[in-house]
Amino acid sequence: MATIPDAAPADGTTGAETLSRVIAVANDKGGVGKTSITANLSALYATAGYRVLALDLNRQANLSDDLGYRGSPVDDQGAGLLATLLAGQPVRPVPVPGRPGLDVVPGGVALGDLTGVMVGRVQQRGRQAFRALAVSLAPVAAGYDVVIIDTPPENTLLVDLALGAARWLIMPTKTDGGGLVGMQLLAERYIIAREINPDLELLGVVLFGTTRGATAIHRSVRDQVERAFGTGTSPMLTAMIGHSERIAVESRALGRVAHELESDAASQPAWWEALRAGDRTARRIPPTAANVAEDYRKLAAEVLDRLAAAESVETGNAEEVRGE
Ligand SMILES: Nc1ncnc2c1ncn2[C@@H]1O[C@H](COP(=O)(O)OP(=O)(O)O)[C@@H](O)[C@H]1O
Ligand SMILES: [Mg+2]
Repeated sequence: MATIPDAAPADGTTGAETLSRVIAVANDKGGVGKTSITANLSALYATAGYRVLALDLNRQANLSDDLGYRGSPVDDQGAGLLATLLAGQPVRPVPVPGRPGLDVVPGGVALGDLTGVMVGRVQQRGRQAFRALAVSLAPVAAGYDVVIIDTPPENTLLVDLALGAARWLIMPTKTDGGGLVGMQLLAERYIIAREINPDLELLGVVLFGTTRGATAIHRSVRDQVERAFGTGTSPMLTAMIGHSERIAVESRALGRVAHELESDAASQPAWWEALRAGDRTARRIPPTAANVAEDYRKLAAEVLDRLAAAESVETGNAEEVRGE
């Protein structure tokens, strides 16, 4: 049997300091916007000049579609991530072609083997096994302003790996029943994950693919979120991502995130110009890209605000302890 590396970093630290900007995007349900949010936030932060790492724990690797690196030379389909996790070595990020400032640890079919490995490890070592990603991420995370982990649905073991490494959890949900059941399942995993990773906190819940103005539905979701996570203050984020199937399809097909489609739409010839030129087949980006792009910008800003608020409280506490 293969030897299993120790679950603690070599320097004896928990890695908590360097993992302080690691965000897991999770919900037990599929199709609630985890990958779209990971792709859009990562690309927006990189465009704004931050150093960003996106890590993909999905076999399907839709992140590689949204960010446009599927099949590129950097796309190892999860082989590197699997190997480094097995060996307890640092993950090996690669730069996303054409996206300065954005590195990725790709997911893909190779991750199919990870679940079986995790089952064995949990049998041997208990829940501490879920610190494996924290161990592999800690030496690397310090090189980034933000690290965002895209997680798979209905695969609690890989979600547990993400929750074992992250400082923050963002949970997208749709307003329908499925997303909310997924939320309850995730809330249970979140509570258990905090036993091995007490630094983990819910940064917020984001409504995804929703209709603006549906305030009664939004209020009911807010109540259910509060019940599931047992918190007095609402963890709902103000920002929400509006419904636009067209933009979603274009985005995944073209490997362009919402704010890029927004500029593509602005720079394409007006439809009547295309018509006059006899070009009826050209792919047209709908102008609603601007609305979705604006939603993601608001979300990106709100997430940064929450991080900054939490960090200023932590700095204040540390100064108090030192008597400053
Ligand atoms: N703004 C949007 N409105 C409606 N549907 C969307 C939107 N953005 C993405 N989608 C679609 O929703 C589905 C799920 O999105 P995805 O981000 O892959 O969710 P998850 O990662 O949780 O499975 C995809 O088919 C995607 O094309
Ligand atoms: Mg996904």
